[in-house]
Amino acid sequence: MNKEKRRVVIAGNWKMNKNARETRMVLEQMRNIPVPEKVDVVLCVPAINIPVAAKETAGSKISIGAQNCHWEKGGAFTGEISADMLKYYGVSYSVIGHSERRQYFGESDESVNKRAAACLENGICPIICVGENLRQRESGTTKDIIRQQVQGAVKGFTQRQMAGCIIAYEPVWAIGTGKTATARQAQEVCSYIRQLISEIFGLRTAEGLTIQYGGSMNAENARQLLAMEDIDGGLIGGASLKAEDFEKIVASAQ
Ligand code: PGA
Repeated sequence: MNKEKRRVVIAGNWKMNKNARETRMVLEQMRNIPVPEKVDVVLCVPAINIPVAAKETAGSKISIGAQNCHWEKGGAFTGEISADMLKYYGVSYSVIGHSERRQYFGESDESVNKRAAACLENGICPIICVGENLRQRESGTTKDIIRQQVQGAVKGFTQRQMAGCIIAYEPVWAIGTGKTATARQAQEVCSYIRQLISEIFGLRTAEGLTIQYGGSMNAENARQLLAMEDIDGGLIGGASLKAEDFEKIVASAQ
């Protein structure tokens, strides 16, 4: 089994939630949660709260992540944040190409590719999100969509760059809906993603890749999802906002 060799990464995606005071309060509770061996725990907080989150989690086992990152180091890009700026605060992960970014802010496979490359150049691990919407699932095109998104996201990457990424499979119909994919559905797509990576970068890179599942993952369903052969972690929205819930998910990654 290759699963044991892979890094398990449990990442919370706080989206646009919590001001600085609330961030401090929750992190006071979260900073000492037990983290099983071989598990990395990350909280991707709103960019403005990165400094306070970095300070609150200093010396703990929790890493801080961002939710997006621009591809240029600086320039006339109002509202954007560069990898260089993130690195300054010790950010080690960034969500890239989340479906909400694609849906509401027009991000494309091409911009996802550039954003992920900028992260890698700065030693930040991009958590590249892919996933089909309900219409695509129901019309049987899930794998086509996943192939297009994965190939677009990692276009032109070297094996080494690929090895520095995480891919998160997040079916759009499961995000924030309480409708989790079944463990079998999630495993089927995660295994397909690994196969795609193997076709492009070879078996070794594919076998070492951490692939997360995301979409209404919670304390009740996490264990079953994380037990699947090709699911090496989770990207968790709603259930990462409360310390008790997030702690249970982290514990089930053992
Ligand atoms: P959810 O969000 O856990 O609230 O469904 C997951 C995500 O969007 O990353």
